[in-house]
Amino acid sequence: MSSSPPPAANLAGHLDPAGNLPRHVGIIMDGNGRWANAQGLPREVGHERGADSVRTVVRAARELGIEALTLFAFSSQNWDRPPQEVFHLMALLRRYLIEERGEILDNDIRLVTVGETHRLPAYVREPMVELIEASATHSRMTLCLALSYGGREMITDAVRRIAQEVVDGALEVDAITPDVVSQHIESSRILPPLDLLIRTSGERRISNFFLWEAAYAELFFTETLWPDFNRENLLEALADYSRRERRFGLTSAQVEASLQEEV
Ligand code: IPE
Ligand code: IPE
Ligand code: MG
Repeated sequence: MSSSPPPAANLAGHLDPAGNLPRHVGIIMDGNGRWANAQGLPREVGHERGADSVRTVVRAARELGIEALTLFAFSSQNWDRPPQEVFHLMALLRRYLIEERGEILDNDIRLVTVGETHRLPAYVREPMVELIEASATHSRMTLCLALSYGGREMITDAVRRIAQEVVDGALEVDAITPDVVSQHIESSRILPPLDLLIRTSGERRISNFFLWEAAYAELFFTETLWPDFNRENLLEALADYSRRERRFGLTSAQVEASLQEEV
């Protein structure tokens, strides 16, 4: 058998030989409604408790040294929920952006968003844009809120822009590679590769979240409902992640050789 060097390209940007901590964690924050139902409370109360979990998890992720945390807060499909629930979620989002401003700025967190944010009402967009700009140079952790976000919508948008570049003569069809596609998908362009995708509430599906980005993410599903999710649950997911071997299509021996080279 030949012992040629492993194709490092598969592993580029992913390996963290130092601590096995994911660079980029994404969370599908699900189960607010069921949490409320179980207590005989309106769904809205579940969303409010969910916002408390957001605060807890953002703080924990920053303290643990996660480079980027993306929270799936509202999907493109969630607009079709009853109008009063959508309104409450929007009002909650505005409240979060205003109340957490100090915490985000004081802790060197950079806020970014992905999704069709032009669809958000002005009373959400205004504090959102203000905080994005105020935190733009921060570098301790990137907090990405996926708002009015749909993975298919993002890929469709990228395809449309790539097609336009071809029509304009700015791009050759043969030059369209996965890297070029990534460059046209904002989340892939501005964030590190997605390493760990967590979904709460026992559902085992992606629900149109990071479809492109999840290609080689490790998946972690927990029964815990989002309002109950706390620092310990995050630690449990990170511990599970640290025990996994990510092979990116290679053999175990190749991955081990690559890791040895890096140390
Ligand atoms: C997640 O909780 C929050 C959003 C999708 C906005 P849900 O509202 O989906 O809660 P369940 O799934 O109905 O329990
Ligand atoms: C996914 O949860 C969207 C967010 C967490 C923001 P949903 O509750 O909308 O997903 P489905 O309907 O169960 O697939
Ligand atoms: Mg749900």
